Amino acid sequence: LTVDAGKPGGIVQPTMYGIFFEDINFGADGGLYAEMVLNRNFEFPNHLQGWNTFGKVTVCDFEPAFTRNPHYVTVYPSGHKEKTSGLENKGFFGMGFKKGMKYDFTVYARLNNLQGKTAKIRVELVGDDNVPMDRQVITLSNNQWQKKTVTLTANRTMQHGLLRIFNAGSEAVDLDYVSLFPEDNWHGLRADLVKDLDDLHPGIFRFPGGCIVEGTDLQTRYQWKNTIGDPENRPINENRWNYTFPHRQYADYYQSYGLGFYEYFLLAEKIGAEPLPVLSCGLACQFQNADNDSNAHVALKDLQPYVDDALDLIEFCNGDVNTKWGKIRARLGHPKPFNLKQIGIGNEQWGPLYAERLEVFVKQIRAKYPNIKICGTSGPSADGKDFDYGWQQMRKLNVDLVDEHYYKSPQWFLDNAGRYDKYDRRGPKVFAGEYAAHGKGERNNWEAALSEACFMTGLERNADVVYQATYAPLFAHVDGWQWKPDLIWFDNLNSVRSANWYVQMLYGTHKGTNMLKVTENGANVEGSNGLYASAVYDKIKKQYIVKVGNSAANAQQVTINLNGVKNVRKAQQTILKAAALTDENTIDHPDRIVPTTTDITATGNTFTVSLPASSFSVFVFE
Ligand code: AHR
Repeated sequence: LTVDAGKPGGIVQPTMYGIFFEDINFGADGGLYAEMVLNRNFEFPNHLQGWNTFGKVTVCDFEPAFTRNPHYVTVYPSGHKEKTSGLENKGFFGMGFKKGMKYDFTVYARLNNLQGKTAKIRVELVGDDNVPMDRQVITLSNNQWQKKTVTLTANRTMQHGLLRIFNAGSEAVDLDYVSLFPEDNWHGLRADLVKDLDDLHPGIFRFPGGCIVEGTDLQTRYQWKNTIGDPENRPINENRWNYTFPHRQYADYYQSYGLGFYEYFLLAEKIGAEPLPVLSCGLACQFQNADNDSNAHVALKDLQPYVDDALDLIEFCNGDVNTKWGKIRARLGHPKPFNLKQIGIGNEQWGPLYAERLEVFVKQIRAKYPNIKICGTSGPSADGKDFDYGWQQMRKLNVDLVDEHYYKSPQWFLDNAGRYDKYDRRGPKVFAGEYAAHGKGERNNWEAALSEACFMTGLERNADVVYQATYAPLFAHVDGWQWKPDLIWFDNLNSVRSANWYVQMLYGTHKGTNMLKVTENGANVEGSNGLYASAVYDKIKKQYIVKVGNSAANAQQVTINLNGVKNVRKAQQTILKAAALTDENTIDHPDRIVPTTTDITATGNTFTVSLPASSFSVFVFE
């Protein structure tokens, strides 16, 4: 392999490798959002969904605590010392408790009776075996809503515990917003999952979807303004992934919006990724063709509120504290702008209805915020024959980036490593906003991950036209998923980094700053003898980085020649491989497929290296 190391070429965008987050597979509620109580504000259509009540408990909405979330429960006393009255919540697939960990319980409560004097509730953390681990009593003596908090400690590690609340006095109490968070959270997000994201060193962070951006219908589209401010008063929304997959139906899949746009921007800042919010374009999910269904598309004359959502979001992120939305951002705790540079309009839309609507967004965003990049989407023509159809529309509208999605077989990924070699360099750049190799059966096996690693050499080789790429989906709860494979699997206590995660991490931590040409006998290395290669220079670390995928079933030796470099003083090879193509990392065996790094004897500029069968290697030369 000849690397033109002496001739650093075009820039590799800092946004090149990143993450795409969507609340699918219980990725947000029940996942990254650390709230442990399901339906904490009793606003699911079945108000007691997720709750088990005993004794006398009723749902009410008279003089509520929160205008947008008006329902609450009244828990009456049992009336007898040998009877109990109360309710319990098993969270999302049970509650995970860790021995010694503290859990913060919050409730809004008042005496139900205007003439009442004192009421008591007892709050318990309960293990999988139904034995309480800790309990706290809260006393109430007010008939106005009050926020009450107590901390409980788990004395054992349990996967499927629950929270139980008793009326422990002789008066009725009203309870709302019953919440439980583990102490190890970051701004309300599960600390272990935040670390899983941070360790990827993502350059771009696309959110909040995916299909949920557009919703099943217009009413259930994601509306960012509903997701900021006091979480107690954020209205819930149905999740697009409710009911959608016949083999996995979750009738209780709603978005609490506890993880909302403010938290997304904070998270982007923490993990050092550029935020890329995506907003509804005024069409319901995958709605491409005109018909009279007003639930699925908004008429052009009524589009302005959707456009305003985009303009206001830009002001929310970048406006100074004297602007309307900048002031709101400051009030939420972030006077400094979030420095938004790009915005996505629409997800997986590409028909004429989309282009008509996007045009209105483009005009107004360009007029008010000429520096904001706009990301459109693409797809084939309605008859499925013209694959360039979406791109043609995007070129006409002159958007900055086009979001392409592909979920294909591992073989497709190997066969398409040259996908971008001939893409038009003029006009919009590529954002591979969702992609993943879908193998047979397994969740995230090595065959799929290796094919992605090989394919990604093609993204890197074409970094002058591919500006960013994000694997999808990101998260899945092992007990509650609709879609596989996914980058990170988790249960109530732990998470596992898939082999695909390690591929993404290796690219994210070795993205370099400039492209380098790498060839074998003058040609791109994209499949011959099962080899795939790309190279970059990191001008800050002064490193030459060569990535080589060996998809062949046999080990191979290759010689890497760093043309233009005299003498290398340090060289390392990091190898990612598995015992079998069907291997995968699991919660019980999280380290089956992890990278190992070894030094290579460093002299001169030519190295003969070994590539194990079915492996991916990253070489770093300094
Ligand atoms: O990533 C899962 C889904 O796949 C996304 O919501 C959607 O954009 C695509 O169809």
